[in-house]
Amino acid sequence: MLPEQFSQRFVADFRRRSLDWFAQEGRHDLPWQQPASPYRVWVSEVMLQQTQVATVIPYFARFVDQFPDVPALAAASLDSVMALWSGLGYYSRARNLHKAARSLVENSDSRLPEDLRLLQKLPGVGRSTAGAILSFGFGQPAPILDGNIKRVLARCFAIEGDAGQSSVQSLLWRYAEALTPEQQAGPYNQSMMDIGAMICTRGTPACGICPLQEICMAFQQSRQHELPTPRARKAKPLKKIFVLLLQSKAGILLERRPERGVWGGLWSLPEMSSSNDWPTWLPSKEATSETLAPLTHEFTHFKLQLTPVKIVLKSSPSLVSEASRSWYRPGDTRGLPAPIRKLLDRLQ
Ligand code: ADE
Repeated sequence: MLPEQFSQRFVADFRRRSLDWFAQEGRHDLPWQQPASPYRVWVSEVMLQQTQVATVIPYFARFVDQFPDVPALAAASLDSVMALWSGLGYYSRARNLHKAARSLVENSDSRLPEDLRLLQKLPGVGRSTAGAILSFGFGQPAPILDGNIKRVLARCFAIEGDAGQSSVQSLLWRYAEALTPEQQAGPYNQSMMDIGAMICTRGTPACGICPLQEICMAFQQSRQHELPTPRARKAKPLKKIFVLLLQSKAGILLERRPERGVWGGLWSLPEMSSSNDWPTWLPSKEATSETLAPLTHEFTHFKLQLTPVKIVLKSSPSLVSEASRSWYRPGDTRGLPAPIRKLLDRLQ
């Protein structure tokens, strides 16, 4: 059944089932719901774009505590924003939030616009995040289509095909648009997310307690384990690099990554393409190196194998108090990529 073929009665029934279930069983106490504001919804949705709710909760609390509104975020240094983001991954999200906050202060009186098109002009805000800001933050009737909602709709309406394909994506949007109500779009959207997260889960959907069971096509056809069509996964390429672990009395040498690319703008260990590159980092060659066990980190499109090359200096070289190099000491709270932080913690 295509969304154009829905009867008013069917749509009303679908909404009623979702909203009634939400009132009883849904999540009402997530930190960004209490209280909800456009700013808090925006920050939380950006954090939730690639990260699970349980991981996001403490990061969200620290972030809005330190930056309670758009002007506070815009006035902060990028370094302090990155420090609060460190460990969450996908750091361009933090850079985009900061950049967007500065543009809001300059161009719109520090207010998030109550307009789908204008919201989508902000860096890092796509259609679904804009829909979340409108519906949860402003109470406007705007649809959302995040991973959970895609799964619920794909099963309920037996929509085949990889949701990464644009034809499937636009079909899913048509369903989301047709079903999102004029009134109570916020609770309705949250109900769909919650059904996706709590019942219609990827591995073992709990169809027995699902409010949509009677109208779910996947359930009727016993295809809930086949749908949504799994994404064809390509094997991720493996990129191998070496990192310099240069220890001196002053600490461990860190270098700021270039703005573009992996871990852009974060402090990290200096990267080398071979394990023999380290002498270029030292004033004299009187040192020996030790190659440590590699560790692997998965990004969306590739895996990174990091092999640390450790060098301990007896001296304390006068370095480089440039903006892009500095010494790391225990207790340093700077924004470091999670695998680098793990490696440094392991050394202590
Ligand atoms: N994922 C994205 N937005 C969410 C929300 N409001 N609640 C739970 N999970 C989410």
